[in-house]
Amino acid sequence: MIIAQIADTHLGDADSADPVFSARMENLRACIADINSLDPLPDAVIHTGDLTQHGLASEFALARALLEVLEVPLYITPGNRDGREGIARAFAVDGYISPDGAFVHYAVEEHAVRLVAVDSLGNNGPKGDFCHTRLAALDATLAEAPGRPTALFMHHPPFDVLAAPDTFAYLRREAVADLTAVISQHPQVVHIFAGHMHRPWTAVVGGVTASTVPSIATDLRYGTYAPGMAERPVYQVHRYEDDCGFVSETRLVDYRADSR
Ligand SMILES: [Fe+2]
Repeated sequence: MIIAQIADTHLGDADSADPVFSARMENLRACIADINSLDPLPDAVIHTGDLTQHGLASEFALARALLEVLEVPLYITPGNRDGREGIARAFAVDGYISPDGAFVHYAVEEHAVRLVAVDSLGNNGPKGDFCHTRLAALDATLAEAPGRPTALFMHHPPFDVLAAPDTFAYLRREAVADLTAVISQHPQVVHIFAGHMHRPWTAVVGGVTASTVPSIATDLRYGTYAPGMAERPVYQVHRYEDDCGFVSETRLVDYRADSR
């Protein structure tokens, strides 16, 4: 199974006169074109949150219009910029998100690796959190298929990103400890994919490899990139191998070629 992972697109309104938002649209367009050009095509694309800048209906409408040309199924988890209601309203039509659930929590069953979306949003502000309801739901979902390799995907990474000014993305250390306690009961969990930090980072959480991807929005991408990379978004392609788990490639999109 091959998964393309994108995150932190931070799209604005289609009518915005701000060139920053025009550039972010082009970033996502170029990234989608690159994904569609992959041979073989990925089986799925996961977006690990912050699809939009302000969580506005007009921003979700623009996002949907851009994502429409993707040639593979997209699954999304909410970022703090989106809000869970905005994501549910925008993507319920695709059938995998409940329009009226308390959280954005679902499992995708039709691929070789089971995908489980985890809602990591805190109640206030940009940081993440987990409550007992969500962790109990995750525990029950994982208990349904103990024999299937499973990847979790969420917005906030449950580990310290040491290069970030604020290394820890959650409101409480206990939230990650509680998540780890659940994961440790389900050895079929093979990877945790996250976003939020806008830079690539990898760690091990409860014995499971966990990683973040760079922001697709090049103006929000952190880390050092060569000057020629200024307009080229970066995303990741993860290929699952039975004997070693996910093997990941960081893809540099050829923005200029895609724009011709
Ligand atoms: Fe973000």
